[in-house]
Amino acid sequence: MKKTNVLIDCDPGHDDVMAILLALANRDRLNILGVSTVAGNQTLDKVTLNLRKLYTYLGIKTPIAVGSDRPIIKELKTGDFVHGESGLDGFDFPNPTVEVDSTNALLFMRDALLNCDEKSVLIATGPLTNVGLLLRVFPEVKEKIDYISLMGGSVFKGNVTPFAEYNIYADPEAAHIVFNSGIPIVMSGLDVTHKAYITNEDIMELERLNGKVTGMCAKLLKFFTKFHTSEGYKNFPLHDVCAVMYVLNKDIFTGQNLLVQIDTSDTLHRGRTAADLREWITHDSTNTLALLDVDRNKFIEILFDAFEKLDSELA
Ligand code: RIB
Ligand code: CA
Repeated sequence: MKKTNVLIDCDPGHDDVMAILLALANRDRLNILGVSTVAGNQTLDKVTLNLRKLYTYLGIKTPIAVGSDRPIIKELKTGDFVHGESGLDGFDFPNPTVEVDSTNALLFMRDALLNCDEKSVLIATGPLTNVGLLLRVFPEVKEKIDYISLMGGSVFKGNVTPFAEYNIYADPEAAHIVFNSGIPIVMSGLDVTHKAYITNEDIMELERLNGKVTGMCAKLLKFFTKFHTSEGYKNFPLHDVCAVMYVLNKDIFTGQNLLVQIDTSDTLHRGRTAADLREWITHDSTNTLALLDVDRNKFIEILFDAFEKLDSELA
């Protein structure tokens, strides 16, 4: 079966790492052209170091490209309150021996996309700064992108504010470029990611398995649950995994085609993904497939199978 070309843009970050692991476990189906980093959960240097450490620990790597160290317009607001001082607290990674391949993600992403005969899927699990700049600086790449599968936004409620999800809130101007690019967007917003959750019992299963990958994930996820538990969450959304899982298993998701616009104002609604839900209005075109539901049992089963596949591969 022909592999799907993918580029992954991320801010690792605990759930970014779970998403990357799912992709790495499916290299028989995905041709991972590269992974680029963007400032978000932590500063650019920290999230890039985290990716290098992860690859060093796994002994697997893809091309790494370093992207933007800040949003297009406003200052960076990190997610350190969730992901810790390193941006990937909870596991003692080795010092990195894996180096980056490019210090200019825009050039790297442009060349990777243009050099492929087939179209690629762009997967984004952090603020959309790199993706927005790519589409604005090198619009010729648009015809080489099949769709963008992104974790971000929500139809109904936010997380970092009552109305905005973190990835969009961190760089709404970049999100505006992406959602108005004409490229089909598959949005894994909080509506679906809050249903794609892991439980303490699931984490205990990973701890029991205690393989090279399952053991690492158990420790990382134990840290990841600390913030969520303190906020009152009863289970723990693996947000970014949805953006990769959709590419591999569309059938476990359901969603709705909507016209989504980004609020870039400096008001209470900054960073909101404003979807038109007026069912009596017919739009000539919608820009977004907003995922709204997922079969969580299948989601977790597929993810754990991927982790255990890597355990075996790396044993
Ligand atoms: O709101 C969730 C998103 O913010 C995820 O991508 C998580 O990694 C953080 O970046
Ligand atoms: Ca992320």
